[in-house]
Amino acid sequence: MQTIPDSLCFLNGSFGPLAQAKVSVLDRGFMFGDGVYEAVPVYGKRLFRFNQHMARLDRNLAKLRIANPHTHEQWLDHCRKLIAAQAADDQLVYIEVTRGVAVRDHGMPTGITPTVFIMTNAMKPASPEQRHQGVACVSARDFRWEHGDIKCVSLLGNVMARQVAADAGAVETIMFRSGFLTEASSSNVWIVHEGALLGPPKDEHVLEGIRYELLRELCEEEGIAYNLRPIPEADVFAADEIMLTSATKEVLSVTTLDKQPVGHGALHGKPGPVYAKLYQAYQQAKAVQSI
Ligand code: PDD
Repeated sequence: MQTIPDSLCFLNGSFGPLAQAKVSVLDRGFMFGDGVYEAVPVYGKRLFRFNQHMARLDRNLAKLRIANPHTHEQWLDHCRKLIAAQAADDQLVYIEVTRGVAVRDHGMPTGITPTVFIMTNAMKPASPEQRHQGVACVSARDFRWEHGDIKCVSLLGNVMARQVAADAGAVETIMFRSGFLTEASSSNVWIVHEGALLGPPKDEHVLEGIRYELLRELCEEEGIAYNLRPIPEADVFAADEIMLTSATKEVLSVTTLDKQPVGHGALHGKPGPVYAKLYQAYQQAKAVQSI
């Protein structure tokens, strides 16, 4: 059995040790995966892009018709208490809201109280080797459902997608639906073509990562063209650079896809110049934007 960290967490209005936190077996999150979550990075004990994470939580709760159980100030307060109690300076705060506890029946029950859970753990950043060499990815058909835009805890499709990479000794699985790039199991995917950063459109097949808007801002600062458009599979395999973004990966260069080196010429299989610029700009954003 794994050892559960002895850290502080928040559950339904109270703070207590993570190992002792318990929810009902009839919780809709346990029964149906009926809930949403957020993963918010923390640098130097300060939350990064917290307002944007809260805005996405609001949008996702509304999609599932769950009323937001806390005000913005309450969320901030709870998160800051947990961050202060955790030893690490850089952390990842995990927030989950489920519909709550009800007798098992598929339809959405009304008049029940949402379950609220928050924990924070030390951030596991990409290793120096991964930063220096980039990471390996594999490709797969996107076999998940058609609501990839909802950041919900029903993540079995994503779990299965990630295992495709794990079984191949790779970091992520880059997925294609009907011949077009969607995303990876827990990251957004970007390509570089003729110096421009290209990402898939924000539609129902892709989670709108908080880094979608952040990368747009960083590209503007760095003078890199940024464009969202459908990206055919062949363009990904022919890309000059491929990158992943997520709360934990920040921006991470993909240097092999299905064991083939990414890129051309001297940069074949090496992290490229657009990655290098965006990574540096990201580090500056962390320093100035965390609250
Ligand atoms: N995952 N797409 C999927 C399917 C994701 O699960 C994530 C994040 C992203 C990137 O979103 P953001 O930039 O907001 O982190 C894209 C988080 C980290 C997780 O599930 O732990």
